[in-house]
Amino acid sequence: MSNSRPTVSLTAPLPPGSVIGMLGGGQLGRMAAQAAAAMGYHCHVFCPEQNSPAAEVARDNTVAAYDDWDALAAFAGAVDVVTYEFENVPSETAAFLLERKAVHPGPNVLHICQNRLREKDFCNSIDIPTTRYAEVNSFESLERVVRDMGRPCVLKTTEMGYDGKGQSFIRQDSDLTEVWEKVTGGKEGIQTIVEAVVDFRMEISVIVARSLNGACQTYIPVENQHKNHILDRTIVPARISDKLLERAEAIARRMADKLELMGMLAIEMFVTTDDEILVNEMAPRPHNSGHWTMDGCVTSQFEQFMRAVAGVPLGSVERHSDVVMTNLLGHDVDDWHAILSDPNNKLHLYGKAEAKPGRKMGHVNRIIPRGEG
Ligand SMILES: Nc1ncnc2c1ncn2[C@@H]1O[C@H](COP(=O)(O)OP(=O)(O)OP(=O)(O)O)[C@@H](O)[C@H]1O
Ligand SMILES: [Mg+2]
Repeated sequence: MSNSRPTVSLTAPLPPGSVIGMLGGGQLGRMAAQAAAAMGYHCHVFCPEQNSPAAEVARDNTVAAYDDWDALAAFAGAVDVVTYEFENVPSETAAFLLERKAVHPGPNVLHICQNRLREKDFCNSIDIPTTRYAEVNSFESLERVVRDMGRPCVLKTTEMGYDGKGQSFIRQDSDLTEVWEKVTGGKEGIQTIVEAVVDFRMEISVIVARSLNGACQTYIPVENQHKNHILDRTIVPARISDKLLERAEAIARRMADKLELMGMLAIEMFVTTDDEILVNEMAPRPHNSGHWTMDGCVTSQFEQFMRAVAGVPLGSVERHSDVVMTNLLGHDVDDWHAILSDPNNKLHLYGKAEAKPGRKMGHVNRIIPRGEG
C-alpha cells in the first residue's frame, strides 16, 4: 500500500501486493477479486451491503454508503487504484475519490456510460452508428417525438436502467399515457429517450480492454440471447461473417481509443437485417456476456480487467475452447448437481443466500469438445 499522494491517473504498472479498490460488491466484483488474488493483488471492496458476493473473496471490505465521506476517504487512503463493477457510481462519489486516488476507467468514461443519451451522442460524434433517437422530457415532447419518428419505437429512462427495466415499447396500438406512466412512474423531471426500434437479426457484444500506453485487446464478438429482457445465453463466437466480426471489433477498439480508456468496456450492438452494426449501449466494466472467457480463453475478462486497471501488460484473448454460457436465475441454481454431472460443465456460483426469481445466482460454461460444435 502506498501513501495516498493524490494522482489523476496511474503512470506506472502496479506491482503485485498492491491494493485494488472496488466500488460495488456484486458478482462482477467477486470474480474480479478472485482474478486479482491469483495475480497477487489484494482487493478492497466498498459497498453498502453486508455479506456481498465480492466481500466474501476480497481481503478487505468497507460496508458504508456511497456518500459516507469519512469511509470513502479512508478507503482512498488504503488502496492504490480505484475501479468499480457497476456504472451507477454517484458522480459526487467518483469526484471525491478522484481527488485522492487514480480512478480507472476515468471520470469521462463513467459520465458517458451513465446516460443513454450521452452514450449515443458520443458514438455519433466519432462516426459510430446508433439507431435514431431523441431526448424527451415531458409527455408533450413524447407525443411530438413519436409522431416524428413513427412507430414502433421504445421509450427508456436515460439513467439507471438494467435488464430491460425502465423501458417500454411503443407499438401501433400502445397508449402513450400508459407508456409514459410506466417508464417515469408519473414523476416529474425524469429524463427519457425515444429510440427507433431496430430490425435486428442478432444482438452481439464486444469486450475491449485497454491498459497503460494504449495497449488494447478485444475479445471475439459473441451472440446474446435474452429471455424476459435478461441475458439467457451467450454463444461464442457470434454466428456472423468474418467481415462483421472484424467490423464489431474495430468499433470497440475505436471507442476505447477515443475514450482513452484504462480498464474495460463492454459494448452491446445490434446486427441489423441489412448487415449494419449499430451500438446499443455500453458498460465500463466486465459484462455478463463475457463470462464464457473464464473457461474459453487464455485470459478471462476478469483477469484482463484487473490487468488493465493495474496498468500491467494485457493477456492473450485467444480462444482455446468453444463455450455456451447460460445464466442461472433464481431457482435454476437448484440444478447444481445435474449441472456438475456433465464433466464439460464449469459451474460458477456467486454465493448469494436467497434465490429470488430473476436473480443472477451463477452461470454455467459448457465447454463444447472440438468436433461437436
Ligand atoms: N432500439 C431498440 N430496438 C430494438 N430492440 C431494442 C431496442 N432497445 C432495446 N431493445 C431490446 O431490449 C433489450 C434491453 O435493452 P437495453 O440493452 O437498452 O436495456 P438494459 O435494460 O440496459 O438491458 P441490459 O441490462 O440487459 O443490458 C435489448 O437487448 C434488446 O433486445
Ligand atoms: Mg442491454
